[in-house]
Amino acid sequence: MLVLGIESTCDETGVALVEDGHRILANDVLSQVPLHERFGGVVPEIASRAHVEAITRLVEKAFAGAGIPVEDAPSRVGLIAVAHRPGLIGSLLVGLTAAKSLALAWRKPFVGVDHVHAHIYSAAMRAEPPFEPPREEDYFPAVSLVVSGGHTSLYASAGWTSHDLIGSTTDDAAGEAFDKAALILGLGYPGGPAVSRAALSGSADRVRFPRTLLEPDSLDFSFSGIKTAVLYHVKGQNSSRARTPREGIDVADVAAGFEAAVVDVLVEKLRRAVAREGVPRAIVAGGVAANRRLRERLRELGEREGIQVHYPALSLCTDNAAMIAGLGHRLHEAGVRHDHSLDAYPMTTR
Ligand code: KG4
Ligand code: ZN
Repeated sequence: MLVLGIESTCDETGVALVEDGHRILANDVLSQVPLHERFGGVVPEIASRAHVEAITRLVEKAFAGAGIPVEDAPSRVGLIAVAHRPGLIGSLLVGLTAAKSLALAWRKPFVGVDHVHAHIYSAAMRAEPPFEPPREEDYFPAVSLVVSGGHTSLYASAGWTSHDLIGSTTDDAAGEAFDKAALILGLGYPGGPAVSRAALSGSADRVRFPRTLLEPDSLDFSFSGIKTAVLYHVKGQNSSRARTPREGIDVADVAAGFEAAVVDVLVEKLRRAVAREGVPRAIVAGGVAANRRLRERLRELGEREGIQVHYPALSLCTDNAAMIAGLGHRLHEAGVRHDHSLDAYPMTTR
């Protein structure tokens, strides 16, 4: 079955065509980074307007890329899948409205997908041919860690469509911490790749930042302390972001020290969760899963403790609609059906 996927939860508009839940025929993403860059973060109003402007064009582009005349869509597409939670409410509504409109016009079923669960599913997809059908038993049961700009969530996952939230951030998301550290260091936006690049020429041992682990058995996260620690280290005690950096600050060393601290926390929490759940596998997904140091540390953890760690391909780590179409297919297979009263939700509840 051919599934049209739509993603518009935050600042990326995505449209994808995916066959049988894993064969990606088209996966188009239009990033809004240039629109939000000068604000140092996503401006919700700008984001929803940009989704409205982009979405129809992206649907046409996806069909053209897949070599399917858009007039043939009603006979070729079997399902429309849309990310309807969690995210910026205005942005979500644009994607949901587009999905409902196409479903009505083409007389197709549609299904709402949890964006964070879809990140987990992205680990089972290949970005390029040869596409292989993933086997659920190769991935589950597992602990899933989704680390992105908006989420830091740990799940006990029994299958593609079955995820129990066992830990989440109490303040900033991991990617958000990278973005804020980058702003403080003058490294631009989005911060993750920039901090990671700067860290390559620094030493992680010269500046040590706190590793906030909360209570010994906690699977929750807190990254606001480290963000403040970076601010005070770079600009002076009790200073604000607007101040210029203190003399002698080595941006590469601070980036490396910051990245090491965040990665240590993520790895330790994942280790705790895997031990508690007693599972042999982990899935790590979301924008921050592209981080080189995180992947290295998780490889070491995996070797040391006999844990198999799955990741998405680098190009599927950040927001995309292929993962929405893919998980939409699995939900449909599992009997999930939504009607046109389906709403958008900014939060995922526990
Ligand atoms: O999954 P994603 O596209 O969006 C959300 O669902 O939030 O993740 C974007 C986040 C940004 O905060 C970005 O700074 C971070 O992922 N990111 C990285 C890296 N690449 C992207 N963080 C650390 N290291 C990276 N290499
Ligand atoms: Zn995301």
